Amino acid sequence: MTFLRVIGFSLVMLLGFMGVSHLLPQVEPDLSEPIEVSTDGLDMPGMIALGESLFTGKGTCTLCHNGMGRAPDLLEMDLAATFPSRLNDGRYTGVSAGKEGAKAIEGYILESMKDPSAFVVSGFGKKGTNDTESPMPTADKAPIELTVVEMNAVVAFLQDRAELEPTVPLPSAEDAPVAEEPVETIAALTDPVDIIDEYGCAACHNLNDSGADIGPELGGIGSRLSRALVMESIIDPNAVIADGYDADFMPADFGEQMQLTELLLLTDYLMALPEPAAVSEDDEGGPEATTGLEVVENYGCSGCHDLNDSKADIGPKLNGIANRMSADEIKAAILDPEAVIADGFEGGMMPDDFGDEMTDGEMALLVEYLTNLTE
Ligand code: HEC
Ligand code: HEC
Ligand code: HEC
Repeated sequence: MTFLRVIGFSLVMLLGFMGVSHLLPQVEPDLSEPIEVSTDGLDMPGMIALGESLFTGKGTCTLCHNGMGRAPDLLEMDLAATFPSRLNDGRYTGVSAGKEGAKAIEGYILESMKDPSAFVVSGFGKKGTNDTESPMPTADKAPIELTVVEMNAVVAFLQDRAELEPTVPLPSAEDAPVAEEPVETIAALTDPVDIIDEYGCAACHNLNDSGADIGPELGGIGSRLSRALVMESIIDPNAVIADGYDADFMPADFGEQMQLTELLLLTDYLMALPEPAAVSEDDEGGPEATTGLEVVENYGCSGCHDLNDSKADIGPKLNGIANRMSADEIKAAILDPEAVIADGFEGGMMPDDFGDEMTDGEMALLVEYLTNLTE
């Protein structure tokens, strides 16, 4: 977590330092408009997460389903025991009456939302109706108006809480987009460029013009991978390892950190990224640098090292390095980072291919630049 925040922070510093921050679109999110995102490719954990956000957000379910006694407290009660007992309740004559299993419970929950009076939990009916009429609003009608996918997501969420494997269908491209009301307390980012910044993706991938190449180039990924696979690569990076890259490098906890709308927007953004320009296809990685500072910028050293006040702390501070290392030692540390691991730091972090990527001229400029860096 801190690791990522640090990368994110360093990246902002790095971009600011490089003077490209003005190139990033500064789009102010319009908090009055709901954001529409397609749910195509969402997997079951995603559906459960969506259901949870709908339950407390757009669905307004927690307005009544809370600890205040207005309605059964669905988040606190033992759903694994309650749902099956409803299906066997003598008063229940709805779609799942007498049935059992996860699919029957899906039917019961959906019916609770679309036709609340089909079964009224004892003591919760409208006054004077002897528990034959429910005070619960119909979830697929105004003002709540959940879509089919949204209701399925809520069902998946409640099934999961009832310790059942969700049985609802996953959304497809034909399904209407989900409109997430902006929730002010936990403001999700609405601009993919900001999302990439926040989660530090550009420290490893060539995104937001970072030029980084620890992870694969993502330009044109939409023509290589399906939307579902791209999403999976983000939340479960070790599920599929990109050719020529190591497992366990990309952080595996984005799924827990990101809000769902962020994940969906980010995926849309990545799917639409154009193929990288021909220049970056060849191994030169752009035009050759002509100053030491340019080399540092082009190879992203300050994303990991505290360099010119970038404050990054994944690698040792480089300002003042000449006080402890000679020019030859510095060059050796760049060419073969694993040969000597700096005290208090981990091996395997610093890319070991700078030697192949840099021209001899760039390496000379870099070493000279580092040996002259003052503390
Ligand atoms: C205005 C208050 C209110 C809102 C909003 C509301 N409910 Fe309810 N809900 C109730 C009441 C009261 C009951 C109990 C009476 C009944 O069974 O219909 C109930 C019952 C249920 C049940 C059956 C519970 C059981 O113990 O068997 C489910 C499932 C349910 N609601 C889901 C939802 C979901 C999902 C939402 C949001 C989309 C929601 N409700 C929104 C008032 C509400
Ligand atoms: C610490 C470095 C690192 C960070 C940070 C990182 N990635 Fe990755 N990423 C990798 C590596 C290495 C791979 C290749 C290995 C693999 O597939 O897991 C990869 C693979 C991927 C892939 C699959 C690419 C393919 O061609 O199969 C996607 C998509 C992706 N990353 C997106 C992201 C996004 C979005 C973020 C930010 C939320 C991010 N990455 C952050 C290192 C990183
Ligand atoms: C992904 C993170 C990362 C990047 C990018 C990176 N480094 Fe490192 N670097 C490290 C880590 C971690 C160490 C400490 C472990 C080791 O010695 O290998 C280190 C060690 C070093 C050392 C040895 C420092 C000492 O005190 O012994 C030098 C010199 C160095 N890096 C220079 C660079 C330069 C120059 C660049 C850019 C061309 C660069 N690094 C890019 C992570 C990184």
